Amino acid sequence: MGGRALTAARFAVAAVVALALSATSSRADAQAGDANAGKAIYDRRCAGCHGDKGDGKGPAAELLAPKPRDFTAGLYKIRTSANKVPSDQDLFRIITDGMPGTSMPAWAVLPDRDRWNLVAYIKTFAA
Ligand code: HEC
Repeated sequence: MGGRALTAARFAVAAVVALALSATSSRADAQAGDANAGKAIYDRRCAGCHGDKGDGKGPAAELLAPKPRDFTAGLYKIRTSANKVPSDQDLFRIITDGMPGTSMPAWAVLPDRDRWNLVAYIKTFAA
């Protein structure tokens, strides 16, 4: 009996580990966003504030404080990396959660895929 319970417990642990591993690898895949696909979403949802050229000068920008981020400088407020460059994960998180207290909305309504594509596209402004 005891041996059986132990086997079941081992199996459960293995299942959890397998799940965790598959979650990690799908996240890694997701990071390779498609910048071209991201542009279509950006032009529709982000350019009004961040500008067609990513310079932070969209039509709504003059009404906003703080101003929308200028992506051409490649400088961000929120980053977990030690240098000034945020990780893709940082950008993804900002796009997902928005910036409370500013006009930057949370875009969790967009599918993950779209948000990874946006990450890829906004990085091209600073390239
Ligand atoms: C209504 C205006 C508005 C829209 C629409 C908008 N943003 Fe923003 N965004 C802002 C503002 C304002 C800031 C800067 C907030 C600050 O300086 O604290 C910002 C900041 C950011 C940042 C920088 C975060 C950092 O760490 O510096 C990213 C990345 C970003 N926006 C991505 C996007 C993307 C992608 C979209 C479209 C899906 C989008 N934004 C749509 C207003 C907007």
